[in-house]
Order: sequence, then structure tokens, then C-alpha cells
Amino acid sequence: MLVSGSLSTSWTAYLGLLSALSATFVPSVAVKEHDFKKCHQSGFCARNRAFADHALATTSWQSPYNIAPESGSFKDGQYQATILKTINDKGETVRLPITISFLESGTARVTVDEEKRQKGEIELRHNSKARKERYNEAEQWVIVGGLTLDKAAKVDYEDKTQVTVKFGPSSEFEATISFSPFSIDFKRDGHTHVKLNDQGLLNIEHWRPKIEKTESAASEETKEGETKEQDKKEKPKKEDESTWWDETFGGNTDSKPRGPESVALDISFVGYEHVYGIPSHAGPLSLKQTRGGDGNYQEPYRMYNADVFEYILDSPMTLYGSIPFMQAHSKDSSVGVFWLNAAETWVDITKGKGSKNPLALGTKAKTSTHTHWISESGLLDVFVLLGPTPKDLTARYGELTGTTAMPQEFALGYHQCRWNYVSDEDVRDVDRKMDKFKMPYDVIWLDIEYTDEKKYFTFDKHTFPDPIGMGKQLDSHGRKLVTIIDPHIKNVDNYPVVAELKSKDLGVKNKEGNLFEGWCWPGSSHWIDAFSPAAREWWASLFKYDSFKGTMENTWIWNDMNEPSVFNGPETTMPKDNLHFGNWEHRDVHNLNGMTFQNATYHALTSRKPGELRRPFVLTRAFFAGSQRVGAMWTGDNQAAWDHLEASIPMVLSQGISGFPFAGADVGGFFGNPEKELLTRWYQTGAFYPFFRGHAHIDARRREPYLAGEPYTTIIGAALRLRYSLLPSWYTAFRQAHVDGTPIIKPMFYTHPSEEGGFAIDDQFFVGNTGLLAKPITQKDRVEVDIWIPDSEVYYDYFTYEVVPTSKGKSVTLDAPLEKIPLLMRGGHILARRDIPRRSSALMKWDDYTLVVTVGRDGKLAEGDLYVDDGESFDYQAGQYIHRRFVFDAAGKSIVSVDAEGRSAKDVQEGEWMKKMRQVGVDKIVIVGAPAAWAGKREVTVESEGKTWSAKMEFTPAMKGRGAFAVVKKLGVRIGADWKISFA
Ligand SMILES: *[C@@H]1O[C@H](CO)[C@@H](O)[C@H](O)[C@H]1NC(C)=O
Repeated sequence: MLVSGSLSTSWTAYLGLLSALSATFVPSVAVKEHDFKKCHQSGFCARNRAFADHALATTSWQSPYNIAPESGSFKDGQYQATILKTINDKGETVRLPITISFLESGTARVTVDEEKRQKGEIELRHNSKARKERYNEAEQWVIVGGLTLDKAAKVDYEDKTQVTVKFGPSSEFEATISFSPFSIDFKRDGHTHVKLNDQGLLNIEHWRPKIEKTESAASEETKEGETKEQDKKEKPKKEDESTWWDETFGGNTDSKPRGPESVALDISFVGYEHVYGIPSHAGPLSLKQTRGGDGNYQEPYRMYNADVFEYILDSPMTLYGSIPFMQAHSKDSSVGVFWLNAAETWVDITKGKGSKNPLALGTKAKTSTHTHWISESGLLDVFVLLGPTPKDLTARYGELTGTTAMPQEFALGYHQCRWNYVSDEDVRDVDRKMDKFKMPYDVIWLDIEYTDEKKYFTFDKHTFPDPIGMGKQLDSHGRKLVTIIDPHIKNVDNYPVVAELKSKDLGVKNKEGNLFEGWCWPGSSHWIDAFSPAAREWWASLFKYDSFKGTMENTWIWNDMNEPSVFNGPETTMPKDNLHFGNWEHRDVHNLNGMTFQNATYHALTSRKPGELRRPFVLTRAFFAGSQRVGAMWTGDNQAAWDHLEASIPMVLSQGISGFPFAGADVGGFFGNPEKELLTRWYQTGAFYPFFRGHAHIDARRREPYLAGEPYTTIIGAALRLRYSLLPSWYTAFRQAHVDGTPIIKPMFYTHPSEEGGFAIDDQFFVGNTGLLAKPITQKDRVEVDIWIPDSEVYYDYFTYEVVPTSKGKSVTLDAPLEKIPLLMRGGHILARRDIPRRSSALMKWDDYTLVVTVGRDGKLAEGDLYVDDGESFDYQAGQYIHRRFVFDAAGKSIVSVDAEGRSAKDVQEGEWMKKMRQVGVDKIVIVGAPAAWAGKREVTVESEGKTWSAKMEFTPAMKGRGAFAVVKKLGVRIGADWKISFA
């Protein structure tokens, strides 16, 4: 969080302190859009856009990048060659080694480096200690698998101008590498899908020495600027060197010891009209064009993790985290690219029929999407994923960067946060009131004020005299505490943490190689350098129970401000010429910074006490590709406004398809005071965020859900209980995400990739495989909503079992008075719930299950699954879990439960938790849309574990649009056992 423009009284003290410490530094109290760079203010972005303008406007434009004749060789799934970049009229060239790796998964990777820099044959300016190589360690932090080379890939055709490689599953993928100019054309099933450098925008700014200009040269340049329009068109424009050597923004100067070094490439998606991904941006799921025109953006999408508080909506502006993974989608086909670069990155998007080279496209009238990727430094490193389905893309991406960590079950419950719960008694009081008003919740949070003057790893002794007593009260109902720990360490005497950081030399350095000092919440601070193994080891020591006193087994951690936020730094972050472990410049690793810090905390939480190992919970604000492996994220400092509620859904959906589905927005809105209707609708929406947390700014009035008053309190309570009853289904969806990268809430294009009408819809979604289709209300005074129906299945209202009169590809209007969440059940699914309301998820651990079956149109099969484990340990990795598949067969008149993974009882040695689960059963099955023929039936036959018995069934006939339904009670079957229920 960051302080808002309006200052509370409690804040004034802090400001006084700051001004006492520094007469010159004025804290930014109103960060606005103009505090962040536009493309024209970011030298390399401006240069590459100008390069693109010139290339696209010049008919005879030829990319100056060519593969050197005879330089190419193909071996064991890898093609290697040297690209020669022609740098002047004399034909001088720069050597750029390229490696194209064909991976077993069918993904291709293209990596381009710079030979002079590989060899260290460059000179740095300003006596910089920075590394000479292009940053080549992003892979080390990001990639966890999927790099095995495809030994079956083979050269299919080769001559002096090109080479074609066949690769991928049954060799259905093909890459044609053209030498002059260099480009790559990726085909699937004989059709081109992705093209690299088709528009000739490849640009790798090679290292060059700075030549100090003589006065006459400088004046010549002025003349150059006056060149006649006509000349300009014909002659290649002289490059604008003004931003090569240093750049100033907002009073901060970047010394750029290596000069210009950007990498850029155009990537065309041939025949694709929609592109998704590259979160986090506050805009539509289907990305907009960025080169102006009606309804389009003027600016490229930017990825440069930043503390952008009070962010503006419908904007390509950067936010707190970045995932440079983009998916293109057209009817029945998905492809994607993953741009592995952690430096500041911009992406321009344009759409159009044909291309610069229409013949080469081979598709006539179809719209294509052209993207232009621009990064400030590092290798050019791009993965091309050829689909063909959205699910293939998320799975392939998951193999590379890892899937979402399996969270503890409590993490899926409701989290109650505000800046700040002011004392341990305040926390105890909220805890009691939540119980009094029957509001289930799992976690209460402490923002920065719990500390002793912003010194992390301490509690304020006056306001939190008894944190352990507080923790124990929470624990008595299975609840947890999350405390905030940020990466800035207060620079003050008598604080052992900062003393150790200094003496052990574990902080981020400035460009001179001395400990970097900047400003954040505590005033003067230093930043832990989580890129350093020694720093991570030290960090772990700080979380031990006897070190972080006041914490106990149910304390978990929130990492905020890890972009990192530096109040007096350029764009509220670190200077780019700061140095990290290994002397890599901050410039190279900026977008990785948040992830390495969250990861350091994640690992710290696995070693608090010998013998105690549970899945850590760490929430992060900044993130990158791979952060999903170590925790949850939220969308940062939003506002208590209807349009922010609305914007949260596409933002959370975008996280989901981009491999980081454990995502949510602050319920209620961080800044401001939500009116009660907004707060209520926000809880109804938040109950469908994978990460569900209410949060509020220090200046916002208290808004714990029980304070809302009637009817709001009751309605919010119902939304919380809906979340809790569906926890088994949410947990199952997380398991799926953990196994193969599938999003937890899914947009229409993902579940129905053939239905073009759904490709731009981003305000409704399916939950896991449950068939639940939700469209939360995000507008004021709305009492009905149109929901788009993607198929011809039958849809039932979740609450009333009404059969909604739908037709495929059309919208249907649903009633949605304040107390109602528009939520449908698609026919053909089975979902699991736990229906007894309790105070926390931990208290539901041994409750029986309810299964809800929705009978599909034409009596098709209904299917679903349930995954359950102990919800906290890593024992699931040793098979300690129950994973059932339920199948309802209307024709066969039965429901069966079988092991979803085909394991038999003897495959699993039952541990303590599994033994205890023997007592947990299925209490009830509801069959919505039950066949009319069941009227009059009172009993069903149950078979399980070698026994047969009967159970009671109640049948309620269809009536006034509501479907018939049957309820079978007191089944007496175990959740972990095979069973069969016959209705015949
Ligand atoms: C996470 O921390 C572990 C343990 O220190 C380290 O081995 C790993 O490289 C780190 N990964 C990231 C992404 O920071």
C-alpha cells in the first residue's frame, strides 16, 4: 500500500519524522500517471518505436539481420548459427550468436546473444562494476522444466537461403528459418501461425564505444534535423542518439554504463484476431491495439513492476507485476509466446488484414495480430508455443515456469485485512465479532503498523503487548494470522536486523558498489538482495520463532512493496544502475526482484522449526513468470469504486490464463469508502476470486462485514458461507492448477475455444470443472444481468434449480436483486460441497460432503471430481490424498465413485490423515434435473466395500420452470471408498 493524497492525523507524525530526517526529500503523496514513463520518455522504447515507424513506412525496407552463410548447424534438436547485423554503409557487421532449441514438448525457443559481450570485449563507462555480458540468468530463476531437447526433430529441407525443421508431437510442427533477411515462420499442420521478424523490426542494439562529439559534429547534427521531408523518406533516418548514454526522468539520472542495449522483435500471429495475457494491466482480457485509432491505446503495454497506487483503469500502463506470456486465439486454434526477459519491456499490438508482406502470409482476408516486443537489456529469448488449444498453452507454460503451489486449505477461505488492526485487543475483538455475526473467516492480517516503528520482525510493545495470546485465540478456532514483512530494512541504530544486513553485506548496492540507501515506510532504508544465496539464508534465520518473537505456528507472511517500491527513486523504484548479487544491474533483473524476495520468504517459512514443515503461505504484490510457485498475488491498491470492482474480473482472469491463478483484488476497494451496496456486491464477486481478501486503507472507515448493517450484513454473510460450502470444489480446482497449470476461474474462450461470440467476454467465468458459471454484478443499482451462454447444455439456477431458458451463443437475462449472485450450474457436472456452516475451514475438516449432480441435456453423463488432502503438509506428494471421480449415468440409472487416478486401495499406504478420513462420508446427493420417471421412488440401492443397503430418496417434481430434483440422504458411504448408487 502507499499513502494517499489525503493525510490522516496518524500519518502526520510520520511526515514530521521524514522532514526532520531529510530536509530535501518530499515524500510522494500523490503518485499520478505522469510519474510513470510513457514510451517517448523511455529512450529505448522511443528508439524502437521510431525504428518500427521507419521500417513500416519504407517500401524497400530490409531488415539488416542475416544469418551468416555456412554458419548454421543442426544437432540433437538444436540449430545454431551466427546472425550478422549490418551496422553501416561500409557493410561492417556485428556477430550475434543464435540458438534455436526444439523442445520435446513441441515448444521452440529462440535465443540471441551478442558475441563481443559474451567474450567480455567491451568497455564500461564511469568505472562501472557491472557485468559485461547480456543478462543471461533469467532462465535460472524462471524455468523449472520442459527444456529437454526433441531428439526426433530433424531438418526436412535445406538450401543456401533457408532451413526447415520438423519437430513436436508426431512432427506436425515446422519452423522455416530464412537467412536473408533473418526470419522464422512457425507452422502447425501445414499452416503458418507465428512469424518472427516478418515485419523486420528485429533490433539488437550492439555495444559501441561512446565517441565524444566535437563541436562541429554536434552542429552538423542540428543541420541533419533540418533535412528536407523528401530526403528523410529516401535516406535511412539517422538514429537519435540523445538517449544512448544517459537518461533523466523526474530528476533521476540513469548512468547507463553500457550505453544502448535494447532487444526488440516483431511477432505476428497469422489469422488471429485476439491476444490475451501479459498481465498485470487494468484493462480488458482481450488486449487492445496500441498504436492509436478509435478505442485503441496510444501507448504500448508496459511491464516494469511499479508501485502504482490509485491506478487508472482501461490503461496499458504498468502495474505491480509482470508475466510476459501472450496467447493468440482464433476459432479452434491457440498459440502463444513467452518472452523471457526481466528488464523493462513494452509491447505494441496492431491488428489488420494482411501484413507488410501479404503474400508471405498465405491467408487472404483474415485479420492477423502483429506484436512488437521491446526490452531494455538482456538476451533476446523467446519461446513459441504452438497449441492448438488454450489448455495446451497453459500446460506447456506450466512445464516451463512451474504451476501454482498447492496452497494450504485455509488460504482459500476468507481473509480479513485492513491497514491497520491497531492492537492485539483490536484483533481479538474483530475475531469475536466475526463469530457473533456468524461470518466464517480463516485469516486476519496485520499491516505495517504492528511493528515497532516499521522495524520488521518486531511487534510494537505498547499496542501488541501479547501477540502470542492473540495468536492462540485465533488458533482456538483454527484461524491464522498474516503479518506484513517488506524488503526495505530500516536504517537506524540499535536494530539488529539492519546491523546484520550491513555487516554481512547482504543488501542491494548502488552504482558505486556501496550499500544502496533509499526511502520507504521507515524513512531511510536498505534493501535485502534476495538474488544472493547468502542473503536468502540470512533471511530464513529471521523467521525462526525465537528470532521473530510474537509469531507462532499459525503466523504466515505478506510481502508488499517488493517491486521494489523506493519512495525517492525513479518511478518510485530503484535506480537502474544499482547492482545486485553477481554485479548484475538492477536494469537487467528489475521484474525478477519481487519474485526472488517472495521466494526467499517462502523458503524461510519452511525452516522456522526443525521437523515442522507445512506449505508456506506468502502473498506478494510484485511478481514475474514463476511467482505462482511460491504463493498468491493481489492486484494492488485499487479504489472503492464500481469501475474498480468491474475491472477486477478481467484482471483476475488474465492472471489465471497466464499461469498465476491464485489471484484476487482487495474486496471493498483499498482507497475510499465503499457505499454499502458496492461493498455487498464486492463480497459477492470476491467469493469467486481464487484469493479472497477484504482490505482497506488507513484513512478508510472501518468496514468489517458485520458493520454493514441489515440487510447488507446478512447478504455478505451468505456470500461468505457460499464460498465456504464450495471450498471442496475450489480446492479441487487448485489441485488441477497445481498439476497442469489450468486456470482456476476460466474465461469463455478457454472453456469454449470454438465459440467466437465468447472471445471478448471477460465479465463471466466458469469455476474449475464444476460447471458453475458466475457473472457477478459489478454495477450500481443493477437488479438483473445478461449472461452469455456458450453452448446448448441445460443451465440451472444454482439456488433455485430453475431451468434457465438458454440458447447457444445468446445472452439470457437473470434476476439479480442485491441478495442474489447470478450463478448457474451447467448440466452434466457433479460438484462437491460441505454444507454445515462453521467458523473456519479448519473446523470443517472432518465434515461429510454433499454432492450436487446436474443432469445434462439428452440424459448425457454427468461427471465431476473431488480432490482432498490434509490441507497443510506435503504428504500429498507421497500419495496421501483422496481423488474421486463421480459419474452419473442417467441411462444406467446409477452414480459411481471411483479413484480418479485409477489407484487401488493397496497402492496407497494410509497415513494418519487418511485413516481419519475413513470417518468422513457423503451425507447427501442432490440430483438436479432428475428424470421424471423417478417420481414415486422412495429408495435407492447403495453398494460399497462388499456390502449392499438402501437409502432414502425424496423426489420433487418439476414445476413452473424449476427442474425436478431428487435428494438422497444418509448414504452411509465413505468419501474415500468406491461406491455405486442405483436408482433402478
Ligand atoms: C528460491 O530460493 C531457493 C532457496 O534459497 C533457491 O534455491 C532458488 O533459486 C530461489 N528461486 C527463486 C525464483 O528465487
